[in-house]
Amino acid sequence: MSDIQKQFLDILTDVRAHLEYQRALGVKSIEAGAPNIQIPVVQPAVASLPKEQIILTPGAPPVAKEPEKTVAPSQTGQPLTLESIREEIGDCRRCKLHKGRTNIVFGEGNPKAVIVFVGEGPGFEEDQQGRPFVGAAGQLLTDIIEKGMNIKRAEVYICNIVKCRPPNNRNPEPDEVESCIGFVKQQIRAIHPTVIVTLGNVPTQNLLNTKQGITKLRGVWQEYEGIPVMPTFHPSYLLRSPGEKKWVWVDIKNVLKKLGMQVPTKG
Ligand code: URA
Repeated sequence: MSDIQKQFLDILTDVRAHLEYQRALGVKSIEAGAPNIQIPVVQPAVASLPKEQIILTPGAPPVAKEPEKTVAPSQTGQPLTLESIREEIGDCRRCKLHKGRTNIVFGEGNPKAVIVFVGEGPGFEEDQQGRPFVGAAGQLLTDIIEKGMNIKRAEVYICNIVKCRPPNNRNPEPDEVESCIGFVKQQIRAIHPTVIVTLGNVPTQNLLNTKQGITKLRGVWQEYEGIPVMPTFHPSYLLRSPGEKKWVWVDIKNVLKKLGMQVPTKG
């Protein structure tokens, strides 16, 4: 195959992955110039979920067709959106972690994501940049999403159980989790994803309210507020134990299947 043919094939693969992701989001048609093209594939189970229809214009970000769906009101009575949750966090001093932080790491990604990844808490790089999963473990998570799942990182949502860095990257303590976990729960309620992936013990045990360890729970579908949860290993653990990556790949393939998305053959 010539280079140009390979490039063309790569573009087609990317377009297909992008369309599949949009379909999983509930998008039923895209605008490509004048005609309105129907995405001609049998709808997966997730397509029937209540996500707003989106019009995609080439070169432009997705535009919501209907007004933004508001979910449950927050404690202040405001509509629950990611912006309102961030506002409620403010310049948080609810727990001792605020003393050592440089930045609050709220979370980032698509507010209409069908997949939410939940980690533990910011590390050094995340604290410096105010963004989740941007250090070495973050690079691995990005690879899992982009190379493994064939989805752009910006299309999923990534956040943590605690929003401020625990000293020396220790696990967050129970009082710190208690002060902060309400916010990740609100984020999940605002996004209402089709699937949640919990990374490691801290998000798995705290979201699912269990003391079972990740080694037992990984790979076994759980549920949080009616949303399927796939617990898997934390990328930091994979950096220390690369032999375990194969299990994460098994879990990720199950997530793609649940979403009705194509499972890449590599891995
Ligand atoms: N580890 C986490 O759990 N979260 C991050 O944001 C980065 C590393």
